[in-house]
Amino acid sequence: MKERTLAIIKPDAVKKHAIGDIIRRYEEAGIHPIALKMSTLSKSTAEGFYAVHKERPFYNDLTSYMASGPVVVLVLEGENAIKTNRDLMGATDPKKAEAGTIRAAHGASIEENAVHGSDATETAQFEIGFFFPELNS
Ligand code: CMP
Repeated sequence: MKERTLAIIKPDAVKKHAIGDIIRRYEEAGIHPIALKMSTLSKSTAEGFYAVHKERPFYNDLTSYMASGPVVVLVLEGENAIKTNRDLMGATDPKKAEAGTIRAAHGASIEENAVHGSDATETAQFEIGFFFPELNS
């Protein structure tokens, strides 16, 4: 089933000059960028995006980190895009990520874990609408 997912290349991966490698992996897996922007998120934008984690102990650190430098936000489209991207990313904690995944290659810690990807259909819809409201009609 053709679907869309939202991906973020996080500040640590941008600093390491891994943007090109990560986008190449998306393209080779058949999930193609249909929208893309690079910007430094404000703290409040990061808080809004991760509102679902508001009660978690790591919320403040996570949102400060996400606002600490430029990120690349993408909408990817392809067959089973959500799961395809989750498989490409690997486990949240790079130490547990399978060899060959983006987080194994570029992640440094559970916070600096290189990329974000929507985890379900409803989350993808919310996340795409959050950054690209013009795409959700
Ligand atoms: P992400 O897929 O962007 O979604 C939420 C993020 O919270 C996650 O990646 C991690 O980078 C971050 N995070 C920080 N600490 C933790 C933790 N202890 N458990 C889960 N996620 C964490």
